Amino acid sequence: MTVAFLNGEYLPLSEAKISPMDRGFLFGDGIYEVIPAYHGRFVGFSAHMRRMRDGLAALQITDPYQEHAWRDLCQELLARNDGDDFGLYLQVSRGPAAQRQHRYPEQVTPTVFAYVFPIAQPGAGDPAAVKCWSVASVADRRWQRCQIKSVALLGNVMHLMEGVAVDAEEVLLFNDRDELTEAAACNVFIVQGDHVFTPALDHQKLPGVTRALLLDMMHQSGDWTVSETIVTRAMVDAADEIWLTSSTKEVAPVTQRDGHPVGGGLPGPMWSRAQQMFARHRFDY
Ligand SMILES: Cc1ncc(COP(=O)(O)O)c(C=O)c1O
Repeated sequence: MTVAFLNGEYLPLSEAKISPMDRGFLFGDGIYEVIPAYHGRFVGFSAHMRRMRDGLAALQITDPYQEHAWRDLCQELLARNDGDDFGLYLQVSRGPAAQRQHRYPEQVTPTVFAYVFPIAQPGAGDPAAVKCWSVASVADRRWQRCQIKSVALLGNVMHLMEGVAVDAEEVLLFNDRDELTEAAACNVFIVQGDHVFTPALDHQKLPGVTRALLLDMMHQSGDWTVSETIVTRAMVDAADEIWLTSSTKEVAPVTQRDGHPVGGGLPGPMWSRAQQMFARHRFDY
């Protein structure tokens, strides 16, 4: 049985209920996070909290808890569920309104929901053991506020389904200038020779925690040449390696794009180095 948290109460997930007037349901008016935890230890907890605070501030929703209270809540939720390795889903919506009106209501109490789902701890860069990803390239048609981790994910969902329609598992999104933005649920890195590139952050991408941790590890180690810059479709076409990053995947190799092998069609050596480093340092954050 999965134990969830809803508005101050721990209860079986199957018994958690919210009002149909909740603005998260009616308008997608809320913010969420997914935080990985392995054997009770979170990866990047404070970075996830910072991003959630930024998102709540952007929507003018008062953060219901301070960071230490969020941490207690999350630890308690782990303790109440059986298992070792989890993704912890957290959502704060504006809450239930008396009337369905677009403008933010004055009197409303945010709805706080959290639950956990089992995940496998990513490995340490073994090409024989890793899941390889196939992606399709599609035009990015989402809103211009993708830096906000809003629960309104229909744009991302529809893009993912464009990939599914051609037997791909993720999509690489390109804007109107043919520049790579991100994937439906991941950030993207490419490799040319020994140079790593990732699209610079702006309103077209989520500031991924995994992206930030990986970049920090690369800078700390001093052994990487990495640029946050515009990544054009031509650069992606010429890439030796493509990686996806997200909290549950860490650094994952793409070995097929639009039906063609990427690099040699196998996880590349730079990917292996990157994920090895990530596995070594994941709990430093
Ligand atoms: C659109 C999008 N970009 C990037 C990411 C990766 O973010 P993080 O590394 O914080 O999980 C996600 C994760 O859900 C996402 O949904």
